[in-house]
Amino acid sequence: MPKQPSLHRAKREKNDEFYTQYQDIEKEMNAYLEYNPDVFKDKTIWLPCDDPEWSNFTKYFAQNFENFGIKKLISTSYAANSKPKDIPYQPTLFEIESPKFDKKKTRSHGKIFILERDINKDKKININDLEWNYLKGDGDFRSSEIKKLRNEADIIITNPPFSLFREFLAWIHDAKKQFAILGGQNAITYKEVFPLIKNGEVWLGATYSTKMYFAVPSETHRVGSESINGKNMQFLGNIRWYTNIDHGRRHQPLALMTMSDNLKFSKHKEIRKNGYRKYDNYDAIEVPFTDAIPSDYKENMGVPISFLDKHDPSQFKIIKFRKGKDGKDLTYTVSDNGDIERERERGRKITPYFRIVIRRKEV
Ligand SMILES: C[S@@+](CC[C@H](N)C(=O)[O-])C[C@H]1O[C@@H](n2cnc3c(N)ncnc32)[C@H](O)[C@@H]1O
Repeated sequence: MPKQPSLHRAKREKNDEFYTQYQDIEKEMNAYLEYNPDVFKDKTIWLPCDDPEWSNFTKYFAQNFENFGIKKLISTSYAANSKPKDIPYQPTLFEIESPKFDKKKTRSHGKIFILERDINKDKKININDLEWNYLKGDGDFRSSEIKKLRNEADIIITNPPFSLFREFLAWIHDAKKQFAILGGQNAITYKEVFPLIKNGEVWLGATYSTKMYFAVPSETHRVGSESINGKNMQFLGNIRWYTNIDHGRRHQPLALMTMSDNLKFSKHKEIRKNGYRKYDNYDAIEVPFTDAIPSDYKENMGVPISFLDKHDPSQFKIIKFRKGKDGKDLTYTVSDNGDIERERERGRKITPYFRIVIRRKEV
């Protein structure tokens, strides 16, 4: 068994080299296009923190440039010298054979690729028309050079460095741009991220996977990576898209049973046996499974964070996150004799993992 790779470990080790697969990008973008076929039309799309020479983000948008009616595609990369020392780097033949190739800059400077016009005069704008140059600096998204590109963009799409996720999200959110970026599911719980989700400024993408594979350099990912079709790949659990681009899944209310039907017919034994418990430190019931949310309950309910994968904002309102009135995590008491009121002091306390408090929207 390969050792379980973890996003946490990747962040701790500041290991940010995970390259997204084409089909994962395509699936998510298709959901935006299905909802609004003109979502990318006349837009400047910027792909930061990329590796334009072989990134699937660049490939996907360059291939679909005319199809989507994109105005301009910009893609930028981070300099090899600014990455951890053990990340392998070799300039591509494309770069070496270009008259612009600079032996010094190739390691110390980031690169920019722009697709905007028909360079080779074949009457098509596609991947063969990408123009490139070295950036003035290393391509760090926090630099003033990159900030200018951010301001020019209408839509920002990437898989940013996992170790800088909070900073990256705040950075694009501040610029009030449309975006879709990848991050771990746990980022929902960050104090910088949850308020944006609660206020409906950021939501989860339309697609997700509990096991998403990324291409990784073999030198930095010896543990847990596997060779798939000749490529060194590694999976990470619970990766999500964070976006403010609308998609259809946000407009599909969950089909739910009433409370009394849940108590009789829920597929979860726990619900049939114990019903819905009340928290000790907040006026809400504990609903341990999204599909056990009672459709007719009008008060507050605590649900797992995976609820957000199914959230339709016209159906439920997000009230708060995680903490009860005492500032501590939501907790309930389990009592064997069933008399919770008498047992509150002595009974067994259960604190379920991160809960989000929601309430049904009045229709
Ligand atoms: C998770 S990888 C994703 C690469 C690419 N977007 C993809 O999905 O195929 C993040 C990339 O951001 C780069 N990076 C790390 N810190 C950065 C920074 N401060 N500014 C810009 N890029 C950075 C990393 O070197 C890495 O190549």
